[in-house]
Amino acid sequence: MKKTVQILLFLVALLISFQVSASYTKGINSTSLVAEEDTSMIHAARNFKNVCASCHHEDFSWFATRKWKYGKGQNDIYTSAKTGYPDFGMPSFKKVFSEKELRDLAKLVYTKLEFNIGENGIKDLDTKRIVTEKLNIRLDTVVTGLSSPWGIAFLPDGDMLVNDREGKMYRYRNSQRVAEIQGLPTIQVVGQGGLFDLRLHPDYKNNGWIYFSYPSCSVDKEVGWNTTLMRARIKDNILVDKQELFRALPETKVGHHLGGRITFDGKGHLFLSVGDRGNGENAQSLTNDCGKIHRLNDDGTIPADNPFYTTPDAKKSIWSYGQRNPQGLLYNSDTGILWENEHGPKGGDELNIIQPGRNYGWPVICFGINYDGTILTKDTAKVGMEQPITYWVPSIAPSGLAFVKGDKYKGWEGNILVGSLRFEYLVRCEMIGNSVIHKEIMFPNIGRLRTIEMGPDGYIYISIEDPGIIFRLVPVP
Ligand code: HEC
Repeated sequence: MKKTVQILLFLVALLISFQVSASYTKGINSTSLVAEEDTSMIHAARNFKNVCASCHHEDFSWFATRKWKYGKGQNDIYTSAKTGYPDFGMPSFKKVFSEKELRDLAKLVYTKLEFNIGENGIKDLDTKRIVTEKLNIRLDTVVTGLSSPWGIAFLPDGDMLVNDREGKMYRYRNSQRVAEIQGLPTIQVVGQGGLFDLRLHPDYKNNGWIYFSYPSCSVDKEVGWNTTLMRARIKDNILVDKQELFRALPETKVGHHLGGRITFDGKGHLFLSVGDRGNGENAQSLTNDCGKIHRLNDDGTIPADNPFYTTPDAKKSIWSYGQRNPQGLLYNSDTGILWENEHGPKGGDELNIIQPGRNYGWPVICFGINYDGTILTKDTAKVGMEQPITYWVPSIAPSGLAFVKGDKYKGWEGNILVGSLRFEYLVRCEMIGNSVIHKEIMFPNIGRLRTIEMGPDGYIYISIEDPGIIFRLVPVP
């Protein structure tokens, strides 16, 4: 009897020691290691949240919806995290985390891949009646079946044009896709790049011009690409009369920070945002187009009253500089003020009022820190550099910008809406004059919020990515 117990105990001990080593080599879960597993997974989850989530979504949906490029095995994920893909916007984390931490991160991501985004990509959100501070909102699904709806434009005949970042432009009528617009230029759908914004000329009814932005190469892919602005007309769902109006230089193979928002001032000019292309120094030099807001005449020529028009060596189209990655840009025709939002580095996302000739400080001043946790700059202010109207730490990754106008949204009048790609919600900024006095987070978990538009019907439209959906916000009792 005693002997059997001894043998049993021995077998149990053997089993445990076998599982200990197995779990180290293969990452297999083992009940005897639950406590340790838990702490290392909690630690990994914390690392993911603090470091990886700023680009990959806190809920892992970036991975869940990913067409994997480098492999989704645990080892592949480990390699990706270790080496990074600096040319495509992911730094290496070799020096940031220990071997074990990298392995644990890979394990965490790998196990979370089972994660399932629900119907329509909306998680835990009842779209029929969402209670917010001032209004109850129903989310009407207007368009589905896209990847990343960027630019949205409402045509006078009631049709809607939508740019999908994948490099497609579609026409919708009553929520049905009625055409894919043909004849698009060659678009670099690489990294963060693709078909971006889409705007109608303020006098579209008479001249038929549409304006859109995208990265393209002037020479070839081996040299690189940069944000480009084109205008064209649509005839029988084909782009005609195409004119390239602007191309940011220099071109680079870096896949991120392209900006790409377009807005008109209704006085014959338009503004275009261009990101720093991953090189902060660009933003402080007037001799290149990156990290800037540009101002052009609507035919692409450069207005002679631009602030650096006569400055030697400066790019004449520059309206403001010191920007990092401006993903929201909108001219308020009621006030004559140009608003912008941009991605700061890990904290320090900004909402700005853009004034001609001003320097918005990147990378000399900012409120953020580098993704690897190192200090970027200890200065948050400097003479000759503008302060944001408001900023976000941690980063929300702002995109899209709209002013609430009209009478459909009681209590929201005059508010500024900003989307969050990272935290997947809509921010409603209550304003007194040009100051933000209150921020409300609305629709948490809705998905990566890319674009916000006030429709001609007076309703707010928002687009989310991966899967790409356009919703209309309808106030309900
Ligand atoms: C600054 C933004 C950023 C951060 C921070 C970041 N990544 Fe990435 N990551 C990216 C981008 C962009 C890509 C896509 C690269 C490409 O398309 O070539 C990527 C790709 C990946 C891939 C490969 C996906 C595939 O298609 O094969 C993995 C795995 C990954 N990241 C894991 C991580 C982990 C783990 C962390 C945290 C330690 C992390 N990333 C932090 C931006 C980031």
